[in-house]
Amino acid sequence: MYLHLQSVFIIFVVGSVWSHKNVSELKFPPWFKFGAATAAYQIEGGWNISDKSPSIWDVFTHESPGMISDGGAGDEACDSYRLWREDVKIVADLGLDFYRFSISWPRLLPSGFPDRISSAGRRYYSELIDGLLAAGVEPVVTVYHWDLPQSLQDLGGWTNPLISDWFADYARVVFSLYADRVKTWITINEPVIYCDASYTMGVAPKVQSPEIGLYLCKKHALIAHAKAWRIYDKEFKPKYHGKVSLSNLIMWFEPDDDGEEEVAELARQYGGGMYSHPIYSKEGGWPPAIEQLIAKRSLEQGYPRSRLPAFTEHEIQLTRGTYDFYGLNYYTARLTRRARSGERIGIWPFSGISELNITFTTRPEWKKAPPFWFYIYPEGLRHLMTWLRDQYGDMEFFITETGVSDYDGRLHDVDRVEYYQKHLEQVLLSIHEDHVNVTGFTAWTLMDDFEWIDGYRSKFGLYAVDFSDQQRRRTPRTSAVYYRNVVHTGSITPPKYSPYSDNGVTNKIFSCTNLYSLIITVYYVLDFQNC
Ligand code: NOJ
Repeated sequence: MYLHLQSVFIIFVVGSVWSHKNVSELKFPPWFKFGAATAAYQIEGGWNISDKSPSIWDVFTHESPGMISDGGAGDEACDSYRLWREDVKIVADLGLDFYRFSISWPRLLPSGFPDRISSAGRRYYSELIDGLLAAGVEPVVTVYHWDLPQSLQDLGGWTNPLISDWFADYARVVFSLYADRVKTWITINEPVIYCDASYTMGVAPKVQSPEIGLYLCKKHALIAHAKAWRIYDKEFKPKYHGKVSLSNLIMWFEPDDDGEEEVAELARQYGGGMYSHPIYSKEGGWPPAIEQLIAKRSLEQGYPRSRLPAFTEHEIQLTRGTYDFYGLNYYTARLTRRARSGERIGIWPFSGISELNITFTTRPEWKKAPPFWFYIYPEGLRHLMTWLRDQYGDMEFFITETGVSDYDGRLHDVDRVEYYQKHLEQVLLSIHEDHVNVTGFTAWTLMDDFEWIDGYRSKFGLYAVDFSDQQRRRTPRTSAVYYRNVVHTGSITPPKYSPYSDNGVTNKIFSCTNLYSLIITVYYVLDFQNC
């Protein structure tokens, strides 16, 4: 009740700051769900506590600190292993419908296999789930978010075809422990990052194999997802009625001024299609155009067969249709054109697709955010959902991530407010104008965390985390207040000021800022007394 009053107070004051500004006519439907996401390695810390074994990220950060922009590691991160109650508290303070977090495979199954389930690991996630439910927040659980047990990497990791069974066994353990309380599941997060980006750049698991390893990983990830989906469908769905899918990160591609639509479409099929066609299309298997191009190029390069392993008929049937919704992560976009003769093509998935002889560019008006790959193009989110629907038919879309970072970590993060407002606007347009069935939106991320090779430099959080404080104090940013308002009202209620135009608004921002600081101070005084 006390906390509730605090929330009302903050919303009231912030609302009064913004209420006389432009308020969008469009609203989210009452059933629409809002949440925020995190991932185990990025927040938990406790990397070697009790019987947890090392993940590929523990090994990579410890052995190759030079490959992390600030030399950091997730050893302690936000210390959510110890401080998870703080996470539940801030999730509840935001009024979120759901909280998406991931389970650490090596924490739950220290050998990587289900020969032994860690009692500490099992208890940790069980308490977190119960804590969320007690706070009225739905847990949305990602089974795998890039932190493979090193023991499995030593056996080839995602390039070993047996991984699909290892993953399915792990997923069955997770479902059997938590399916009674968790109704929405993500099997794997962003295979395009842990396969394509990892094997191209040689980041964890530090294997560089852009022409072979990348495609083995892709195929095995899709089959692993499919096996896990089928396990849930057969063994758990009849009793618990939950939903399962994967989260695909897809960049939006459109032709640059010299580019052709045909080239952009090939890039879409390579980026989004390879992870969608096998699951969401009626016929299954790789997108035909891509499969043919890779086969042709492989033969030209002197390989005896395509570097892209084919799906057998059995695997096509196994994988096809293994979804309950489309889990979409969206951050950035690129313009495409054919590479000019002799032009050096940048690396996939950030700067080009050498496999297809495609170069990427960006529009000057797309604002840059850190890390290096990030150009902001909110309309891409809407285009992407329409494209996916046109390709694979009507289905439920659940936006499982979007968000933006900065390097200065300021509390008064007007750029992040603008980012969310503009992306939410695109979601509203998708719903109201395009009639796309979008049912949820997930902010990345709840709080600042370990941003992979960008270490702790990139701050994506709605909450700032003080990494020099033992208690890892979490402090809400302006974007947290903004997002809470969206969640409570279903309206994107844009602040009138534009942080990008110098039309005399800077002073207004600062006057709001001072007021905001006062609110935050009052909030913490009340909060402190509450403890
Ligand atoms: C998506 C990934 O799932 C997450 O781990 C990462 O931190 C964000 N993108 C930002 O790069």
